[in-house]
Amino acid sequence: MSENTSIGPPLWLLAELTYECPLHCAYCSNPTDLGKREDELTTETWLDVLSQARELGSVQLGFSGGEPLLRKDLEILVEHGRKLGFYTNLITSGIGLTEKRIKQLKLAGLDHIQISFQAADPQLNDAIAGRGKAFEQKRKMAEIVKSEGYPMVLNFVISKQNIAQIPQILALSCQLNADYVELATAQYYGWAYDNRDHLLPSQTQLRKAEETVNQFRVQQDNKGPQFIFVTPDYYEDRPKACMNGWGSTFLTITPDGSALPCHSAKILPLTFPNVVDKTVTEIWQNDFSFNHFRGDSWMPKPCKDCDEKEKDFGGCRCQAFMLTGDMNQTDPVCSKSEDHHLITQAIEQASAPKSAIKHRKRVADIALVKL
Ligand code: FES
Repeated sequence: MSENTSIGPPLWLLAELTYECPLHCAYCSNPTDLGKREDELTTETWLDVLSQARELGSVQLGFSGGEPLLRKDLEILVEHGRKLGFYTNLITSGIGLTEKRIKQLKLAGLDHIQISFQAADPQLNDAIAGRGKAFEQKRKMAEIVKSEGYPMVLNFVISKQNIAQIPQILALSCQLNADYVELATAQYYGWAYDNRDHLLPSQTQLRKAEETVNQFRVQQDNKGPQFIFVTPDYYEDRPKACMNGWGSTFLTITPDGSALPCHSAKILPLTFPNVVDKTVTEIWQNDFSFNHFRGDSWMPKPCKDCDEKEKDFGGCRCQAFMLTGDMNQTDPVCSKSEDHHLITQAIEQASAPKSAIKHRKRVADIALVKL
């Protein structure tokens, strides 16, 4: 196979170790068809994939899922990744984490931990997560993570359910001494797409939330956590530069070894390669699916002639597909798209949801790993 050096490396490698998760959040962006646990990659295959990706030039390695702590080999994978020279990041719900495991992961060389919270108090947090005592566990683990000297990111997925709690969320993040806090409005993929009417806040709610965060930053005077507030692109008039452009920076490997340019791409009518059958270099540089939306030759009008096409790359392919049924269309978030009315309709629909909320299923009963 010839090496295509005109394509830069996948700087960010996301290893989705398992889709199993002890939580049932309605905002989950995992696929609604979660796959089978027995189809997950073996430890040996993961070790090989990490080595291949590092050789190709990947530098950041995220372990996520589902809940990556459910894999008993997590420490082995972290250790291998660190030895290869990756900056390693664990993206976890905190459920299944213990002081012992936090220490073991430190010894394995883990650089960074991100813990998700669903709200600022136990009642709302546990209702959104669909699991009792989740808040107390997360809180306890966040304290230990900091006391072990890790840099810590807290991630709050913001939705209609918790947006009124922004002041309390800011206070909790300070109490827990977080380094970074992502206040990211749910992205409408997977379960979150099905539940969009129940999740999408109104523009007034979002403006108020953003103002509260901005005022808090001023009061903080650059001390304490750094807050990152991300609004949903439904209220923008230009689409987001999804994944920094298809096949430019991000490579996701799903639990069964499928290689994807983004975490949602499996929904698209494209055949994606698997690391069991092809090398990472072959996949990244030569696979049809990865090359399909690179550059701008695939673009329809108005993207084709737009002077902003270098900024947003025509937006998100998955969003275009979910909303219009055609992955080749301009992302309807763009006000120049002839499908933009779909976004306005979605916002209107979310003001009075008609269907019931769906909670994320688990694949099987989960026994949390005890080490
Ligand atoms: Fe798949 Fe945007 S999430 S391209």
